[in-house]
Amino acid sequence: MSLEIRSYIESDEKAVAVLWRRAFPDSPPWNVPEEDIRRKLSVQRELFLVAMRGSELLGTAMGGYDGHRGWVYYVVVSPEHRRQGIGKALMRRVEKSLAELGCPKLNLQVRASNAQAVSFYKRLGYEVEERISMSKRLESAEHLP
Ligand SMILES: CC(C)(COP(=O)(O)OP(=O)(O)OC[C@H]1O[C@@H](n2cnc3c(N)ncnc32)[C@H](O)[C@@H]1OP(=O)(O)O)[C@@H](O)C(=O)NCCC(=O)NCCS
Repeated sequence: MSLEIRSYIESDEKAVAVLWRRAFPDSPPWNVPEEDIRRKLSVQRELFLVAMRGSELLGTAMGGYDGHRGWVYYVVVSPEHRRQGIGKALMRRVEKSLAELGCPKLNLQVRASNAQAVSFYKRLGYEVEERISMSKRLESAEHLP
């Protein structure tokens, strides 16, 4: 059966959450798959992609464009189906979709300890840039002055 890459639909939720929990068992407590999915569905949901073979969900990639840069998160392929080109197909589709929106550059973050992902992205043409990654968790809007 051939691989299909399509946008996420609601009935994918369970399979996506299982895939992510398996791939990232040490995720911080604030990365709750169901909540991350819910938020993404309200912003550019068409860029949230899944890789399907028949009815089996084999991978995901969550893209987005903020008007300056594109970003991609949750690039994950199920362990049994890695090294078959699925991750590459997902990334190529994200790149194409972002390019169609006029996005000039795609950024992504990888944990420093994730050497396999770094190798994967390098094979796809990504370069390591000397940057310090900074972030701040935001209060929900109703708590802000
Ligand atoms: C990273 C990941 C998505 C790669 O998916 P994949 O489907 O196995 O990758 P592909 O088969 O499409 O590989 C694409 C290229 O990367 C290379 N590659 C993939 N995994 C690699 C690895 N672990 N080490 C070295 N090279 C690798 C492949 O050899 C292939 O090169 P080629 O095009 O020259 O043949 C997958 O390993 C994964 O889900 N990892 C766990 C989740 C994760 O860490 N995601 C990244 C979060 S930032």
